[in-house]
Amino acid sequence: MNQIKWMSGENIPLEMHKVRIIEKLNLLPIEERKEAIVRAGHNSFLLQNREVFLDMLTDSGVNAMSDLQLAAMMRADDSYAGSETFNRLQGTLQDIFGLKHFLPAHQGRACEHIIAKVFVKQGDIIPMNFHFTTTKAHIVLMGGEVVELLTEEGLKVNSDCQFKGNMDVEALEKLILDKGRERIPFVRMEAGTNLIGGQPFSLQNLRDVKEVCLRHDLLLVLDASLLSDNLYFMKVREEELKNTSLHDIMKMIGELCDIIYFSARKLGSAKGGGILTNHESFLPEMKELVTLYEGFLTYGGMSVREMEAINVGLRETLDFDFISQAPEFIRFMVDEFLKEGVPVVTPAGGLGCHLNAKAFLPHVEPTEYPAGALSSALYLISGIRGMERGTLSEQRNEDGSEEISSMELLRLALPRRVFTLSQIKYVIDRVTWLHENRELIGGLKFVEEPKTLRFFFGRLEPIGDWQDNLLKKFKEDFGESL
Ligand code: F0G
Repeated sequence: MNQIKWMSGENIPLEMHKVRIIEKLNLLPIEERKEAIVRAGHNSFLLQNREVFLDMLTDSGVNAMSDLQLAAMMRADDSYAGSETFNRLQGTLQDIFGLKHFLPAHQGRACEHIIAKVFVKQGDIIPMNFHFTTTKAHIVLMGGEVVELLTEEGLKVNSDCQFKGNMDVEALEKLILDKGRERIPFVRMEAGTNLIGGQPFSLQNLRDVKEVCLRHDLLLVLDASLLSDNLYFMKVREEELKNTSLHDIMKMIGELCDIIYFSARKLGSAKGGGILTNHESFLPEMKELVTLYEGFLTYGGMSVREMEAINVGLRETLDFDFISQAPEFIRFMVDEFLKEGVPVVTPAGGLGCHLNAKAFLPHVEPTEYPAGALSSALYLISGIRGMERGTLSEQRNEDGSEEISSMELLRLALPRRVFTLSQIKYVIDRVTWLHENRELIGGLKFVEEPKTLRFFFGRLEPIGDWQDNLLKKFKEDFGESL
């Protein structure tokens, strides 16, 4: 995709696929969008699809499937035991990662549930480059504590660092010596680090982390949910890998990890998940938990049709044209936003384009959820649904105080192969307008607040009447336009 030069000299991503199935979209008038976001408690998770124009909530389970994925679904083997579908998927995973055992699970968090149950006990510490919401929730539920060890650059919203997802290996070494190896059941690395803007780690960093793990006899666990983006960045940003095939890079990653787990709602572009390992010691316990919580060992709660789609989707992860589509679109968005002075996470990562809500709305207090407010405002003026990734996505501390997130982002996810460039231009247009009118936007407060994963179901309301003021300004500037 990035090999095509334009006569104009512009750097425009060109799709290496064509669209053969479409879904009709709906763009409601702004008055109806206002009613919808009020009904949804200003929480974009609670909007209905029919109320959304461009759904940039997530890339989870919503990537467009390829013709070959759809075709493969037709030959799924439904046999409860000894299913050929399972054998095919296990064979592909063995080939790609070089890890022998595959335990299927219905999605990524189910893998996290099983891993946390097997390894984490009260008082344990789990070092990781950065947490993901569901990962942390499962670890905390078992009495463990998450310690994040990103390098300093990783936490800067804007940086030149090409691998902001890297772990600080010196800090890891120090943590092990300070807290004691016996309190650490494993070290976790997350590919395409989600909550800091889909930022990758380098293969070299994974090697360095592995070296520390080996010296202290610690297991290295990889969350590979966002590995296809991370793989793209390794290939284009890591000098030593320029001439290495994607398949060989995957194999190198596999060799370094004791356990790999993934959400196939992301990796493989279908719906499911799984755990991979070469170790035999904890396998029986994991198998029991898979059978108990997920399903029999040949499907683990997944539909066999989805497993066939994952099988093909995983192979497509080794195709550079396929894995470059989302990162190239995101890079385009980031470049355009920078031209307009809209604050975004840099360098461009995978998963989505991340607006820096702290800089977008400096006048909104962190406890009044700037990214949540921005999400609500953006939906109101455009019908675009993003996802808050900031303090609202955190859990309150035991004493009821807010855990202020180190980053306050509005994620505009780029499901693979779903949006066209003119739709992306619409996003850039409306976000830029919103930025020019940012002083009209105020904060939010909870009216219903669940204790765990509150961002999924919590309901909020605006502080003051900023929503009406924003609507009025939209009407002034855009008239009868949707
Ligand atoms: N790990 C990472 C890095 C993820 O991004 C996700 C999901 C999971 C684990 C859990 O997987 O959803 O299949 O249970 N991320 C989704 C998102 C929800 O929208 O970013 P799951």
